[in-house]
Amino acid sequence: MKRLFWLLGYCLMPLAFVAASALMLAGCTNRQRLTQVEVWDDMKRQPKYLPQGASDIFADGRASRRPVAGTIARSHLKLEDAYHTGMVDAETYTGRNPEKIDGDLLKLGQSRFNTYCSPCHDRTGSGKGIVAIKTPAWQPTNLQDDRIKKMADGEIFSIISNGRRTMPGYKYQIVEGDRWAIVAYLRALHLATSGTVADVPAELRTELR
Ligand code: HEC
Repeated sequence: MKRLFWLLGYCLMPLAFVAASALMLAGCTNRQRLTQVEVWDDMKRQPKYLPQGASDIFADGRASRRPVAGTIARSHLKLEDAYHTGMVDAETYTGRNPEKIDGDLLKLGQSRFNTYCSPCHDRTGSGKGIVAIKTPAWQPTNLQDDRIKKMADGEIFSIISNGRRTMPGYKYQIVEGDRWAIVAYLRALHLATSGTVADVPAELRTELR
């Protein structure tokens, strides 16, 4: 009797355990040629259409359908409005940045400017980025020029979106919100070079050196 227990306990049980684990693992892989032991089929087999499959429901015999005309995927709506184009009508740029200007927006703008603009325009906007240094024949505009400082926010937005002359557009790389953040940050860079003591709040002026 004792020997039977010993046999069961020390030999058969571990063996059964190993066999059961092997079976379970086998169920996980697709590589074996035998039919899998399938406890739950996880909806592997079901009536469905695969991409580019055939179907006799529709006249053209295809299962894949085009979206209904005018369908716009969520978050892909691009209105032809000032927020998406920087223009209020065909000839006029928006004067004001539509985003709320706060510290978070400027931080976002700084990170995007340093990523997307500084390779050419450098981090201050003066136009001496690494690309400009390596390509003397292709010089970016100095973004600290008075001409750029006087531009409407919408014009800068539009330049970032569509490019201008030899500068490429970035509308596919930078989403609208980030483009407006860059415009706001460029304004901060402008202030950094053209600000006067009068721009500093009176209570902070004593800290100026
Ligand atoms: C690949 C290099 C490159 C990058 C990146 C780049 N620019 Fe430019 N940018 C240029 C060049 C070159 C010009 C001058 C175009 C010309 O006059 O032919 C220019 C011109 C400009 C102008 C002035 C256009 C005018 O009317 O003269 C603005 C404003 C400007 N860039 C803003 C930006 C901003 C903001 C970014 C970042 C989103 C950016 N650029 C990224 C190369 C670049």
